[in-house]
Amino acid sequence: MVAQGPIEGSTPADSPPESRSATRILVVDDEPAVRETLEKFLIADGHEVVAAGSAGEALVELERSTFDVMVADLILRDGNGVDLLRTVRDRWPDLLVVAMSGYGTVQSAVEAMKAGAFEFLQKPVRMDEIRQVARRAVEQQTLLRASRSLRRVLDAPFNLDAVIGRTYQMRRVFDLIEAVADSKTPVLIRGETGTGKSVVARAIHQRSQRRLRPLVEISCGAIPETLLASELFGHVKGAFTGALADKEGKFQAAEGGTIFLDEVARLSPSLQGKLLRVLQDRQYEPLGSSRTYAVDVRVILGTNADLAREVDAGRFRGDLYSRISAVHIDLPPLRERLTDIPLLAEHFLRKYAHQCGKTRLSFAEGALQCLQRYGWPGNVRELANCVERAVVLCRGDTIHERDLPPAVVRSVEDDALLFSPARGRPMTLKEALEEPEKRIIKAALEAHGWNRQKTAAILDINRTTLYKKMKRYGLEEPGARANA
Ligand SMILES: Nc1ncnc2c1ncn2[C@@H]1O[C@H](COP(=O)(O)OP(=O)(O)OP(=O)(O)O)[C@@H](O)[C@H]1O
Ligand SMILES: [Mg+2]
Repeated sequence: MVAQGPIEGSTPADSPPESRSATRILVVDDEPAVRETLEKFLIADGHEVVAAGSAGEALVELERSTFDVMVADLILRDGNGVDLLRTVRDRWPDLLVVAMSGYGTVQSAVEAMKAGAFEFLQKPVRMDEIRQVARRAVEQQTLLRASRSLRRVLDAPFNLDAVIGRTYQMRRVFDLIEAVADSKTPVLIRGETGTGKSVVARAIHQRSQRRLRPLVEISCGAIPETLLASELFGHVKGAFTGALADKEGKFQAAEGGTIFLDEVARLSPSLQGKLLRVLQDRQYEPLGSSRTYAVDVRVILGTNADLAREVDAGRFRGDLYSRISAVHIDLPPLRERLTDIPLLAEHFLRKYAHQCGKTRLSFAEGALQCLQRYGWPGNVRELANCVERAVVLCRGDTIHERDLPPAVVRSVEDDALLFSPARGRPMTLKEALEEPEKRIIKAALEAHGWNRQKTAAILDINRTTLYKKMKRYGLEEPGARANA
């Protein structure tokens, strides 16, 4: 069958197979031409392939035997492919799913990812693309399988070192952490700010045989290029103005251990080249030196940017991207793992309550509901801060809604307010920020009996700022007009 319509690119004969491991792949597509082409191509690539023409057939095949990877169209005649994805996620959580769609709206990609897809491909699917994705899925699956068989029975179910979570997304993260811990392959950790990239990097190091050697963390953002080059690789005296003595770099400091390079998208082109060299040849030269050093360092990378897009935009080297993204761990935003919120909230409650000596604290039901409704743009970090603040502010043994930041409590109404057509125009950012600011200050003042020194301290602003803001928002202690 000749490739037609939604399939583009080479035929199997054009491209020699790169992976020979017999992985079992289930192809689900209701267009026979697409199905057959994919089937042929993946078989030629060394995989065992079974094809299904509908969601129903796919489920029958999944019941009948075990697969490693499923490649499925999202638009199926007998039902919504996203529903199929959800069923697979619940019943066969170990199966990696590559979703495809011809109606490649951002929405369907987002839905697919939310439903647990490992990758999303837009039709027409290019054959080299599907091969790459299949190879990545196989790599990931092999690692996962190895780790499952090694999993120690004694592990706490919802907790891997300091990483907490009970959702299927987080369980997959735990599996991956264990799977990759002892290999030398670079790992790319992707996730919005505050989703736990640093804690996951630490957990990987902690689980590895390198745990007794150093773990060195460095963020590649916001450091000028020369300084970062010197931070990473060291320099010799006189390498640049101000280089008064030889200096050891982070790679050397991490020898035998692990280095976590965060915000890797911010690396300059020349540093991207140096990093690729370290990854490939395990060698580097300090700035200004002609001497080559060999390193034994495990590299973990973090990003909150879309690196594939950076590659497309020409800002990130494609070869470096392929090298670092083969094994990746995606940390979903907190708003996409709702059932982790109470678990994490309880964890932070115990932690901060212990620190404050308020050991009997618990959440009121309403407060927990607010935490689950809020969108958490700052993810787990924001939740931790919110709980810490509530522990400090609350009186008695229960944390109520009033102890939470007003933005968290009012998030639902605020959304309605911001986008209300009745306003005639959207709020400006300044207006939108004023209302929660006013409520936060008022709540803190009330909680501290209008003591300005304490309130300023708890809000982490200076007293003059607090005075100015109280004046702007007309905040006065009830009955204290004479002193104001
Ligand atoms: N799954 C988790 N379990 C327990 N604590 C977590 C978890 N995820 C994040 N945290 C906590 O949330 C805070 C933020 O996490 P972390 O610094 O790892 O995020 P990040 O993704 O590295 O953020 P950034 O992009 O800003 O560097 C830390 O205090 C961390 O301990
Ligand atoms: Mg971090």
